[in-house]
Amino acid sequence: MSATVIDGKSVAAQVVEQVTSHTTKLISETGIVPGIAVVIVGEDPASQVYVRSKGKRAVECGFHSVTHKLAEDTDENTLLNLINELNNDEVIHGILVQLPLPDHIEEGKIIQAVSPDKDVDGFHFINVGKLGTGEIATAFVPCTPAGSMVLLKQALGKQDFSGLNAVVVGRSNIVGKPIANLLLAANATVTIAHSRTKDLPELTKTADILIAAVGRPEMIKGNWVKPGAVVIDVGINRIDAPEKGEGKTRLVGDVAYDECAEAASAITPVPGGVGPMTIAMLMATTLIAACRKAGIEPPTF
Ligand code: GUN
Repeated sequence: MSATVIDGKSVAAQVVEQVTSHTTKLISETGIVPGIAVVIVGEDPASQVYVRSKGKRAVECGFHSVTHKLAEDTDENTLLNLINELNNDEVIHGILVQLPLPDHIEEGKIIQAVSPDKDVDGFHFINVGKLGTGEIATAFVPCTPAGSMVLLKQALGKQDFSGLNAVVVGRSNIVGKPIANLLLAANATVTIAHSRTKDLPELTKTADILIAAVGRPEMIKGNWVKPGAVVIDVGINRIDAPEKGEGKTRLVGDVAYDECAEAASAITPVPGGVGPMTIAMLMATTLIAACRKAGIEPPTF
């Protein structure tokens, strides 16, 4: 079998188009402009790239977009004060504090300081709790898991995963745990595997849906994949690529792509799979936040 390549770039473009047209309608009917604030502390180059892309995409969607760039040595209180201001700012509907934060700032404290009604990352305890108890309609769902589910539902051609085994490799709060909850909500039978799991290849071979979210380059091999499985690769790892020249690098996922594509029925590439969906879903979530604030039924994605 040779897998269908799931085109995340094209699906993300469709989501952004849907967000843009709903935004135009929201503005013309209510005068409300969805507003997003992205906060970054420090100079991490990858985070800088992500934050620039988020701001650019927000403007394309017709949003009010502000980016707060704070110096690496910003103290925790200064950041908490900024979050408090944004929580009280009427024109801001979504707040995202880019992670990781510098070591001297307690990440958990910052995440919990964001108002749950503006927590477009879905990291606040209130939103995590809603997702865990199936209150998805009023929760904010983390963007990468939400985007992965959109791709998965398209690839499988259905919304209901009854009877399907899903294995999630990775148990992070940002991806592994929330995606497991989303899969469960879609009626899949879900197993979360991690670094302490025994006989991982045996387990992944039982998966009709295999989610790789471990952050280890090309860890999942072709013979770990059940023939016909749908494989979603959430990993983005930069590795040396001496074949491209001295000092060159390339991006790979957590899945050994070529060999897994032999076994799978559908697979996401890296780059161009889950990656583009993350920012698209952030736009969708910000629009949803603005609609909820206005008491308007938000669109579904
Ligand atoms: N850093 C890497 N992924 C994410 C994400 O989804 N949200 C935030 N805020 N920071 C990140």
